[in-house]
Amino acid sequence: MKRYNIFVVFFSALLLFSCKHDPAVVPEIPVIPPVTVDCDPDTAYFQQQVLPLLVSSCGVAGCHDPGTASDGIVLTDYASVIASGKVRAGNPGESDLLEVLTEDDPEDRMPPSPRQPLTAQQIATISQWIRQGAKNNSCESGSCDTTNVSFSNHVWPVIQTSCLGCHSGGSPSGGIGLTNHSQVAQAAATGRLLGAVRWESGFAAMPQNGNQLSACQITQIKKWIENGTPNN
Ligand code: HEC
Repeated sequence: MKRYNIFVVFFSALLLFSCKHDPAVVPEIPVIPPVTVDCDPDTAYFQQQVLPLLVSSCGVAGCHDPGTASDGIVLTDYASVIASGKVRAGNPGESDLLEVLTEDDPEDRMPPSPRQPLTAQQIATISQWIRQGAKNNSCESGSCDTTNVSFSNHVWPVIQTSCLGCHSGGSPSGGIGLTNHSQVAQAAATGRLLGAVRWESGFAAMPQNGNQLSACQITQIKKWIENGTPNN
């Protein structure tokens, strides 16, 4: 017991001593991961619904990716989106981010022509997220359906949210268009689709500049491919 006390005193003194004489260290800002909750259909989630849209439609090379940072704006992670100053939490009407998405003039609209504008539903999701406080929120659905996987219910929504911004239009990224069932099936047939979303070596990791798809989404894509890429 006595010995223990001596050690405590000794190490406390050592700690104090070193604290006093070390130069002031600026504490590193901890990276707080978003709290993941069960998905609530009435909530828009930044990590699953908003960020993938921003990454594939805005955070692309030459625009708002970290390398280009057009107008000083980066839209590939939460901190940068907030730091852009274009989001007023709770107030979509005052948020420039939302305004540029709905701009009538195709020159001023984002993403600019010839890129396609976001769909009304995608814009509504971003608006809802801002209205609900523009939080760095994240959700997980409790179950992962891998028995009734279909193109329209499982594969296509992922492509729309996470890939289409880059893989559509006249010159799709990597020469790979993913704008309809047959194009997605074609990418699947070459093995590239699965290799890319699983971040396998030898393939470009997709979505570029974004987080990896969820394990559930990847499993569903794999199942759909194993089932023969049906248009169901
Ligand atoms: C920010 C733009 C961007 C997003 C978002 C994006 N891609 Fe890509 N993708 C690219 C670029 C650029 C290439 C070419 C990369 C290269 O060749 O190094 C590419 C290449 C690919 C390839 C070929 C990979 C290979 O190694 O042969 C596939 C398949 C692919 N993407 C699928 C997807 C899928 C599926 C998604 C969504 C889950 C997605 N991409 C999201 C930009 C993007």
